[in-house]
Amino acid sequence: WVVMKTARAPSNIAVIKYWGKRDEKLILPINSSISVTLDPEHLSATTTVAASPAFHSDRLWLNGKEVSVEGERYKNCLREMRARATDVEVESTGRVIKKEEWSSLHIHIASENNFPTAAGLASSAAGFACLVYALAQLMGVKENYEGELSAIARLGSGSACRSLLGGFVKWNMGQEADGRDSIATQLAEHSHWDDLVIIIAVVSSRQKETSSTSGMQESVRTSPLLKFRAEEVVPKRIEQMEKAIKSMDFAEFAKITCADSNQFHATCLDTSPPIFYLNDTSRRLIGLVERWNRHAGEPQVAYTFDAGPNAVMFARNKEVGAELLKRLLYQFPPSSDADFSRYVIGDQ
Ligand code: DP6
Repeated sequence: WVVMKTARAPSNIAVIKYWGKRDEKLILPINSSISVTLDPEHLSATTTVAASPAFHSDRLWLNGKEVSVEGERYKNCLREMRARATDVEVESTGRVIKKEEWSSLHIHIASENNFPTAAGLASSAAGFACLVYALAQLMGVKENYEGELSAIARLGSGSACRSLLGGFVKWNMGQEADGRDSIATQLAEHSHWDDLVIIIAVVSSRQKETSSTSGMQESVRTSPLLKFRAEEVVPKRIEQMEKAIKSMDFAEFAKITCADSNQFHATCLDTSPPIFYLNDTSRRLIGLVERWNRHAGEPQVAYTFDAGPNAVMFARNKEVGAELLKRLLYQFPPSSDADFSRYVIGDQ
């Protein structure tokens, strides 16, 4: 017999960035972060997990290619989920898989993204959130405390803990050494601010040169700006951003989002050797938005860039979103290396 479950989880984009760990094993961050979960129609991972006595080892396929499941991150997620498994009835046969059996049953995992992997569009976030959610369905895992699954997804990739929740999400850095309080909570549903339009400008779908994991390690080791940012800048910004989201204050939201993206990339440049994630197209996009906002007198559009050259842009409403798309297509005609798609959060 085989039992199988499939789940889908969306990607998320940070408006206050997570960059730097205080514990590499437990993946505990040096600052809290805030993100927006994207519509799964546009950026998501779909994962199927299966268990059978006929399987002889845990195995993993990413976008159709088998990769090793021996990495610590996968092993940690699987171990934590197995430890929380419960008795599960196999629907087709009525047989019950006892809770103790899960520790010896091997798991096959197949995961696919509907967007470029590792191009700085948070593919690991969607991937690990999806894996943990699918395993919870398969193994009958119930959360003992709120955020328990989010804390397990965090062991796979820090930003993944934010993808288990929709809308606007805060990952609280926490204080405890065992990471118990380093979990994500929802600040507001998508529908709370459904005027907001998200446009993702895929500038390049190439794999980034420096992964987030190693990039942030180097920054923690060498960047004095990162320490200042984590201790002096982010705590205030988190408070301001929470307020801006609650009151749907677009001007404030845009100001903080752009400033935080720029400071994150400044810490990358402050790292030794320096890390460059933005390219010329990214910088032209920043210029376009900055000029537009200055002429308009108050922010109409915000931009943010993760560990790659692709831009995520927020327009204050549908009209501005449509105008932004027009300007992007005009400035970056289809023959250039940028390819623009329009993504809307909420039910529009
Ligand atoms: C720039 O979550 O990919 O996207 O925890 O090492 O897996 P690991 O890193 P990851 O880092 C994401 C960095 C970021 C900012 C963010 O999403 O907050």
